[in-house]
Amino acid sequence: MEIKIKKSGSAKLTMHDGKDFELPMYSGAVGPDVIDIRTLYRDSGAFTFDPGFTSTASCESQITYIDGNAGTLLYRGYPIDQLAEKSTFLEVSYLLLNGELPNKDQLEDFTHSVTYHTMLHAQFDAFFNGFRRDAHPMAIVCGAVGALSAFYHDSTDINDPHQRKVASLRMIAKMPTIAARAYKFSIGQPFVDPRNELSYAENFLRMCFAVPCEDYEVNKVLARAMDKIFILHADHEQNASTSTVRLAGSSGANPFACIAAGVACLWGPAHGGANEAALNMLTEIGSVDRIPEYLAKAKDRNDPFRLMGFGHRVYKNYDPRAKVMQETCHEVLAVTGQKDDPILQVAMELERIALSDPYFIEKKLYPNIDFYSGITLKAMGFPTTMFTVLFALARTVGWIAQWSEMLSDPSQKIGRPRQVYTGAPERDYVDLSQR
Ligand code: SDX
Repeated sequence: MEIKIKKSGSAKLTMHDGKDFELPMYSGAVGPDVIDIRTLYRDSGAFTFDPGFTSTASCESQITYIDGNAGTLLYRGYPIDQLAEKSTFLEVSYLLLNGELPNKDQLEDFTHSVTYHTMLHAQFDAFFNGFRRDAHPMAIVCGAVGALSAFYHDSTDINDPHQRKVASLRMIAKMPTIAARAYKFSIGQPFVDPRNELSYAENFLRMCFAVPCEDYEVNKVLARAMDKIFILHADHEQNASTSTVRLAGSSGANPFACIAAGVACLWGPAHGGANEAALNMLTEIGSVDRIPEYLAKAKDRNDPFRLMGFGHRVYKNYDPRAKVMQETCHEVLAVTGQKDDPILQVAMELERIALSDPYFIEKKLYPNIDFYSGITLKAMGFPTTMFTVLFALARTVGWIAQWSEMLSDPSQKIGRPRQVYTGAPERDYVDLSQR
């Protein structure tokens, strides 16, 4: 990775003991400048304090850029709405991994490489049988991805560029097969193997919904919608799960273990688990006349209830992915004959009311990608427990791209934050007889 930040000046810091420090500032291609504090502790003896990293850049990256105030999202400079409309998930995957859109030969070669890595080791299927049938599919996927390092030892050496490339292809290619198997296992149906003549999204839908008793015809509109949903979820700067993957990778852990760590973090309801939580919330609200009751709960600081699918650490404007997701939602519901789905009516009325409510306006809370994705995925036939699995499937290429960038970044080292300690001062052990 070529370091591209440029010195843009310096910041002066005067400590409470009067000592002054001058810290270099750098600017990127676009977005906020950064203050380089790498020598601060060595020179001043003080740490910075930033729980939740609201003001901290953990790395330089050239992959994805979000302008939270403008509500824009760029993958390698290309706006998400253009990619969702004009590109495909595999083409976007190539872009995220390599930095440029592929030409025809590059795309064909990449598509072939991914297609011919979609099968799992035959013995891997036995691994699924170790889970309870009622296990949450995310629990199965988290375990299965971590187990890949027990099957594909020949692509775990992170210091070998060829092994890194093979591991990356295997992760992107096998995630749909693992995700579909987690779903089939949870509903007690036989596994369906990948077919090489199908596209990435078509293959995934067939592995999820085909049964041995009849031929399965992929619905082209639903396959296009699935591919678009994968594009929307592919990467998103240094979000919690991507930061988890980078931190795990900074210790030299193998790629499969790092992605498994990302899956585990994504599962949280404040992060990737919000799509499942948002649909459960909309279902619980049930009808538009109950919306005021839930909005009041969301605004009550003493009530832990949050409006799932609303708000974002970075977006203080409409999440551009949510706009595309809403359009895709209407396309899917039209095809599946559910355009009058009462849950969609609740979602649209909830959005309309919230966006005109002073609380949400003042706190700049808008729908995020998770607000409409649940309704769409439910209409496509997925149970709510599969929603975050689909998010993890799509985000795998982003995690891999970020992990690979971190490994090639000369300024990166093992991540090891410090703390401000407010626990007990040093004290001697007290014998039990004295307590
Ligand atoms: C994803 O990081 C990423 O990029 C994530 C993601 C990705 O692609 O990787 O975009 C995917 O995780 C999207 C977010 C999905 N999560 C949800 O929809 C869960 C509901 N949202 C909230 O939990 C919350 O908005 C977060 C977690 C998303 C953001 O949390 P922050 O950064 O702590 O929120 P904030 O500081 O901007 O909140 C400002 C205020 C706070 O009130 P005060 O303390 O100032 O009084 O708004 C309140 C919050 O309490 N608030 C909400 C709210 N979200 C924030 N109040 C009611 N309902 C909400 N949804």
